[in-house]
Amino acid sequence: MKEKLKNLKDSALEQINAAQHLEALNDVRVAFLGKKGELTSVLKSMKDVAPEDRPKVGQLVNEAREEIERILEEKKAAFEKKLREEKMKKETIDVTLPAKKPMMGHRHPNTIALEEIERIFVGMGYEVLEGPEVEMDYYNFEALNIPANHPAKDEQDTFYINKDIVLRTQTSSIQVHELEKGKVPIRIIAPGRVYRSDEVDATHSPTFHQVEGLVVDKNVTFADLKGTLQQFAKEIFGEDTKVKFRPHHFPFTEPSAEMDVSCFKCGGKGCRFCKGEGWIEILGCGMVHPHVLEMSGIDPEEYVGFAFGVGLERIALLKYEIDDMRLLYENDVRFLKQF
Ligand code: DAH
Repeated sequence: MKEKLKNLKDSALEQINAAQHLEALNDVRVAFLGKKGELTSVLKSMKDVAPEDRPKVGQLVNEAREEIERILEEKKAAFEKKLREEKMKKETIDVTLPAKKPMMGHRHPNTIALEEIERIFVGMGYEVLEGPEVEMDYYNFEALNIPANHPAKDEQDTFYINKDIVLRTQTSSIQVHELEKGKVPIRIIAPGRVYRSDEVDATHSPTFHQVEGLVVDKNVTFADLKGTLQQFAKEIFGEDTKVKFRPHHFPFTEPSAEMDVSCFKCGGKGCRFCKGEGWIEILGCGMVHPHVLEMSGIDPEEYVGFAFGVGLERIALLKYEIDDMRLLYENDVRFLKQF
């Protein structure tokens, strides 16, 4: 038995020594120590050993087992060390390589345009305000002289939460909130997101942004409106920009106008950019309708106001010569970082 065990051990050690890699080593382990391994079968045959010899033989088997295990472990550790070293050598780091830079985001053209607009109006003494996007029908329509069944409501066919609550279709609703506070004089701009049930195309989106303006004071005239918006146009599109006011209709202003700026690409001669017109429409404006003031508790005999509404995307698209509004909503950094 002793002889048999010694042979078995020697044979195991020999095979361990001959093993060239980890898998081979594992095969040796299974062949000797595994469930059906040679040493295990010796243990199983203990029943044939005379009972008085069993402790001695048992000890010998255990010693053999321990030694094989020890040598296996040593060899395994050596293999692993070698593998690690080879891996380290292969993976040497070139510290002179440029580092991977974290991806930086970029301010959105809308944001850049808005900050520019805010800078201009804050410079003229305006305050910047915001209002709710989910709005009472009253603030969005009714109090702006757009009663139920008014055709202007159709134009702004929108997203209703229920009969009385809408996603606002225009930032003009913020005018009403400000008027209701009753603190005159008022000189505010109010940027924000608005919603209309429009199909997406190059010039339309169901959500876009406007910047509202409202001034209420004594002795405000249309000349103040013109001067203010002219100054705004010059600052945003360049000193040479000319403006033109065309009569228009908005329910909450009287008189109302749309303002065009001379095309800053061709200077007004007419080009592809302004579709040969020489002029580009940029906003709606007018003198606040006395009824609008009155509904919100401001005495129209004492106070006068003017208001305007600019499409923020429109300004951004024009300023940065972007020809498709959809690009503004894709948030592709490769696009955004050009501005
Ligand atoms: N709210 C208007 C719209 O969405 C734009 C507008 C026109 C706002 C004239 C005004 C204004 O404040 O005076 O079409």
